[in-house]
Amino acid sequence: MIIIHVYKFLALLLSFFDGSIVFESLESKTEKQKPVFNKIYLEQTYKRDTWTMFQSHSGIKAQKWDKIQIIVDKTKSPYFATYKQLEGNEEVAFKADCFRCHSNGPRLIRPNFEKIHFSFKDKLKLARMNSIIKSYGVIKSAMPKSPIIKLKSCNRCHNNSGIRAPITEKNSQTALFLIKNQQMPPWPHKLSKKEEVLIKEFVYGF
Ligand code: HEC
Ligand code: HEC
Repeated sequence: MIIIHVYKFLALLLSFFDGSIVFESLESKTEKQKPVFNKIYLEQTYKRDTWTMFQSHSGIKAQKWDKIQIIVDKTKSPYFATYKQLEGNEEVAFKADCFRCHSNGPRLIRPNFEKIHFSFKDKLKLARMNSIIKSYGVIKSAMPKSPIIKLKSCNRCHNNSGIRAPITEKNSQTALFLIKNQQMPPWPHKLSKKEEVLIKEFVYGF
């Protein structure tokens, strides 16, 4: 998969721009459709990448932010992701079902640029993180089995020997969000008219 190597190379070029980023999420909203703020940082060793995210559902000035983590074990082939919800350093029960939105370990970071100012340096930090996320390829996890959404335009990339894990019915809301926002399939790929109809049935049929 040449594209994976391109992203690895990009991440390497941008390796100087490490450090955390803070932003309003485009995708995640509170139950009342209010903004969700995230602060993400990444620690890398040869064996594992640890993504830590602090999340606030009550504004950017909140005192207490949730702490969640995704650990990518790079000694496994394909890589293996573990999900954690933390209080300090203690592991606690999940507040949400991680697998609903995370079918392939870390998700591409999509800030709401209309709401938060990103300096040029922040943009480079974001580009580095997103290059790393795209460079992982297929990632396994302990995600419970769920029927795969069988759509040709999606499965050419989303399959176990492709560049990203298959999308299952569990991920339908995430899939719908990305399709609606014209993120999936990525440009210049397109859905066929037949598939557009199918997707609407799929997603609204659940
Ligand atoms: C409603 C969908 C949703 C759920 C549920 C969810 N996440 Fe995420 N998560 C995201 C999105 C989207 C991002 C990327 C940042 C962004 O654009 O907001 C993300 C980012 C992250 C990151 C930062 C690294 C990355 O993936 O970019 C961590 C760590 C993380 N999530 C952990 C978790 C854990 C642990 C759980 C379960 C307790 C969880 N998430 C549940 C949607 C979700
Ligand atoms: C050209 C390859 C390609 C095609 C075609 C494609 N995807 Fe993706 N998809 C990706 C990549 C790479 C990511 C991770 C980066 C991102 O989110 O942009 C991703 C991410 C996703 C995610 C988030 C989970 C994850 O793997 O991070 C969902 C859900 C998704 N795609 C659904 C779809 C659906 C539904 C279609 C068909 C309508 C589709 N994709 C078509 C490459 C593709």
